[in-house]
Amino acid sequence: MGKTEISAETRKMLEQAALKVMKNAHAPYSKFRVGAAILLTNGKIFSGCNVENASYGMTNCAERTAVFSAVAELGPKIEIRAVALTNDQGVACSPCGACRQVIYEFGPDATVFFQGAKGPKQAHITELLPEGFRFQ
Ligand code: THU
Repeated sequence: MGKTEISAETRKMLEQAALKVMKNAHAPYSKFRVGAAILLTNGKIFSGCNVENASYGMTNCAERTAVFSAVAELGPKIEIRAVALTNDQGVACSPCGACRQVIYEFGPDATVFFQGAKGPKQAHITELLPEGFRFQ
């Protein structure tokens, strides 16, 4: 678990990608734009933004947009190494419960970078989602 640390440069690069895609968010209801970038173990980076809907429950979070985009492009064998999250209000924002489960599906050893209550934070996905569900 967590064999290799993610370097500061890699973290920066992921955050830059998250900031860039955040601008594409469709967030007319919450006015809260979120960007997510994921680094795969093959070195590729995918990004996603939140996409809201007038039927609010249909909203897709930035994290799931990024993960689903990677699967759509590369297929289901992807492995997520790290995730970075940004929002346009500079407030604390960790992945929601649903997104934690989706990250865990493809990244049981993923490191997640996000804005915590007391500043930037990094956490292993299993700290954020203890006892995540998977079929054995
Ligand atoms: N949101 C995300 O995209 N990711 C998160 O980690 C937290 C919440 C979005 C969903 C919704 O469009 C808006 O932020 C407010 O909840």
